Amino acid sequence: MERKDVLVSEEDLSRQREFTGKIRDLLQEEGRRPLACVDTFGCQQNVADGERILGMLQEMGFDFTQEPKEADVVILNTCAVREHAEKRVFGNLGALTHSKKANPRQIICVCGCMAQEPRVAKKIRESYRHVDLVFGPHVLWRFPELLYQVYTRRGRVFSVEDEHGRLAEGLPVVREKGVKAWVSIMYGCNNFCSYCIVPYVRGRERSRDPEKILEEVRELVAEGYKDITLLGQNVNSYGRDLNMGVDFADLLERIDREIPGEYLIRFISSHPKDATQKLFDTMARCPHVAKQLHLPFQSGNDRVLQAMNRRYTRAKYLEEIAYAKKVMPDLVLTSDVIIGFPGETEAEAMDTVSLVKEVGFDALFTFIYSPRPGTPAAEMPDPYTRAEKQVWFDRLLEAQNEISARLHAGYVGRTVRVLVDGESGDERWPLSSRTNGGRLVHLAGDRKYIGQFIDVKITDSNTWALFGEVEEPASAPETAGQ
Ligand code: SAM
Ligand code: SF4
Ligand code: F3S
Repeated sequence: MERKDVLVSEEDLSRQREFTGKIRDLLQEEGRRPLACVDTFGCQQNVADGERILGMLQEMGFDFTQEPKEADVVILNTCAVREHAEKRVFGNLGALTHSKKANPRQIICVCGCMAQEPRVAKKIRESYRHVDLVFGPHVLWRFPELLYQVYTRRGRVFSVEDEHGRLAEGLPVVREKGVKAWVSIMYGCNNFCSYCIVPYVRGRERSRDPEKILEEVRELVAEGYKDITLLGQNVNSYGRDLNMGVDFADLLERIDREIPGEYLIRFISSHPKDATQKLFDTMARCPHVAKQLHLPFQSGNDRVLQAMNRRYTRAKYLEEIAYAKKVMPDLVLTSDVIIGFPGETEAEAMDTVSLVKEVGFDALFTFIYSPRPGTPAAEMPDPYTRAEKQVWFDRLLEAQNEISARLHAGYVGRTVRVLVDGESGDERWPLSSRTNGGRLVHLAGDRKYIGQFIDVKITDSNTWALFGEVEEPASAPETAGQ
């Protein structure tokens, strides 16, 4: 597709701003500030989209609440990746019938990945009649127009056509307060792993212009954000659709070189089929790039990897990890794993456990396979029971927990540099912080350190976290009076 068809034009964006103004005027007539409640599920990409929704709502004149009951507009920003996520959304939607009954003028919206699934849109149309607006991620930028339609038309609005995904720059944003920020560098996915719904609901890969990304990161650093995560379903294929001769490693290098300041850049997710030595060399060389790699392997068995359409082998994955560890000895490694893919045998699942032991990941995100209607894997014979898969899954967890506990214990007694990112709510360890590699450190120390990079002494650890104390800089020796 041509770039001009991918980018939302300035004219289209300014039309949306007009709708924002119209809603603002409409709401002002009511003489009070309306409230919106936005509930986001799923991955960081969805969180980043949720921040744009908040931004658009704020420009319309909304304040925010966590309480659906008191909101004029309730938005569920949904995730479709596993059945569990979907069930939670339908549970929440069911509960909203009560708030709508109490306040019939309340507007209920469903957006995000589930909304892009025709099956889900149909179910909402037929069985959740209190929902007023449904729109998928493809038309997020048209939210002002869609909401205006709800306000001015009687009737429900569904915008869930399978349009090709676009890319809108310059949408307003309300970010989480603190030191962490998310920057989407690309949208969509071209990989069609056979179990995964994401390419169907998020469309094809679209990369943002590198200059726009640099501009956003520069602004964030100037605003005081210190831990910035670049987002994409497969950041390693960043730039392929741009034809500008820039790849993800080049982007990292440019951010590192051109944006001065005390900050760290992280990124999720990477696909092993596209991970290059150039990327690992760049990470190793660039001081602003955190030495943290999230490289999902999904399975340690070649037959299963092929059935998953992952397009790499166990050996290739291990080679990549070996190289990355060679050039970054302090690298913190995490991954995603699926147990119980259709037809996976016990021996194949144990290949996954053996890979986990061989690599020694710092932490894992582990999932039991969940069939997603419309994906090829959902049509495959799936002879093993949930109970059998659970036994394999528990073995995987046991192996990983042992490794995490051992790696964490290795920090005890060391002094490490952390970024203090907030309060923990625990009196003994009132601060929460992260190492360069992203490990969580609960910290004893003064609140004045929030937002700072400081050295801490690690005093204890468990499977999930480290515990430490602030190393107060030695006070300057007093000079003897003369
Ligand atoms: N694009 C990223 C990647 O490929 O690493 C992440 C995609 S997805 C949002 C996050 C994780 O969910 C995947 O890495 C996979 O482990 C898991 N996942 C995706 N589809 C699944 C399914 N149908 N059942 C169970 N887990 C699934
Ligand atoms: Fe899903 Fe695979 Fe794309 Fe990740 S790379 S979003 S697992 S299809
Ligand atoms: Fe879920 Fe969509 Fe993310 S399906 S994991 S919210 S891309």
